[in-house]
Amino acid sequence: MTSNAFFCTNLIVFANIQSDLEDEKMTKMDKIYDSEELIITLKTFFGLEEVLKEELEELGYSEITILNRAVQLKGEWKDIYYLNLHVRCAVSVLVQIAKFRIKNEEDLYNKAFKIDWTQYFSNDKTFAVKGAVFSKLFRHSQYPHFLLKDAIVDKFREKGMDRPDVNVKVPQVLFDLYIQESECIVSLNTSGVPLFQRGYREAVGEAPLNEVVAAGLIRLSGWDKKTDLYDPFCGSGTLLIEAALLAANIPSNLERHHYAFKNFKNFQPEIWEDIYEKANKRCTGLPCKIAGSDLNSDMMLKAKRNLRGLPIGRFVEITTNDFADVKKPFENGGMMISNPPYGERMGSDIPEMYTALGDWMKQELTGFTCWIISASEEGLKNVGLRPERRLKLYNGDLECSFRKFTIYEGSKKDRYDENGNLKEDFKSED
Ligand SMILES: C[S@@+](CC[C@H](N)C(=O)[O-])C[C@H]1O[C@@H](n2cnc3c(N)ncnc32)[C@H](O)[C@@H]1O
Repeated sequence: MTSNAFFCTNLIVFANIQSDLEDEKMTKMDKIYDSEELIITLKTFFGLEEVLKEELEELGYSEITILNRAVQLKGEWKDIYYLNLHVRCAVSVLVQIAKFRIKNEEDLYNKAFKIDWTQYFSNDKTFAVKGAVFSKLFRHSQYPHFLLKDAIVDKFREKGMDRPDVNVKVPQVLFDLYIQESECIVSLNTSGVPLFQRGYREAVGEAPLNEVVAAGLIRLSGWDKKTDLYDPFCGSGTLLIEAALLAANIPSNLERHHYAFKNFKNFQPEIWEDIYEKANKRCTGLPCKIAGSDLNSDMMLKAKRNLRGLPIGRFVEITTNDFADVKKPFENGGMMISNPPYGERMGSDIPEMYTALGDWMKQELTGFTCWIISASEEGLKNVGLRPERRLKLYNGDLECSFRKFTIYEGSKKDRYDENGNLKEDFKSED
């Protein structure tokens, strides 16, 4: 349930089938349950569960349970629309429609076939089944998805209808199947393509930061939306854009128009339009400076193009610069959150570059709190500063470390011995 002040509506809702469904109960699935009973699962990336919970609390939600790479809460259909638009740290919003136990592969098909899939979508929509399987009952991890797909198609046929087509890449309707040993949970994925496809980033760089990860990093950093923020490796601008949208209270998904919920039979366009209408879309200025730079001028053109389409665009300053040439970005300290190059494909000699980065931070960022995310362990070692915090995260499939360094006056002296060599203590820390 939420404390959000929404208008009242008579929503047509889907059957929400929980508990360990026995065969007898599964035949009663067309029953329309009370809309307040929806079990909503928001999926995210490893390490972002806590910040997602925090974000949801700020949006007015309570009784949020943390799961593995997901959080769960209860709500109504209007919450589904609201969350898809407003949440920044989630990858998708699921609504549970069935939960049952199985003994074998065939059981999955049989129980899934009892679900009336025709109540959720019509056969002119394409669909797909995705999800995660952690079960010894299946020899191939993809096989349960095929079984569910077959059950869906066969249900349409049984009702004398043409079968809907499958589209794995861009399905109009998406179902999520989660299997943990013998327990199966089937959900509607109301987002469809993942929510990190914000719609604002036409142009991407070579190694862009995932938008949901960027939003998560900003929260993990504890940025207060008032402290000036700098990204010296801003690439196509993901961190700066996410930070500016957050500071301006504009939904990150403002420019996104695809949502799978629009293709389900119960879609209520007037409710969605009202939610979208009420979202803040204007920006007359930011509460602090948000700026960045990147060596690559093509990349800067991409970042400018991305920024131009957004209400915060003209308030974010970006320049083409080698980080080493940037002088004190802000006079009175600030925060740096950045994603430097981490692999050979990205050119420069990584260990050397990270050493130069550490020296530059010491030189130009006194009074700053600096956060670096990188997949290069060797690079991070070479920053030559002791991290105050280190968090394990993923950018897509790539394992990364997100580290915090506070740059105090005089800490350069503490790090080096009288011969100018990095002290052993600082080397061993990483
Ligand atoms: C991992 S990417 C950053 C991606 C960015 N966060 C985004 O979402 O698009 C690293 C960036 O560092 C830039 N770069 C490499 N060497 C640099 C240097 N010496 N100074 C500034 N930028 C540099 C590259 O052009 C690249 O855009």
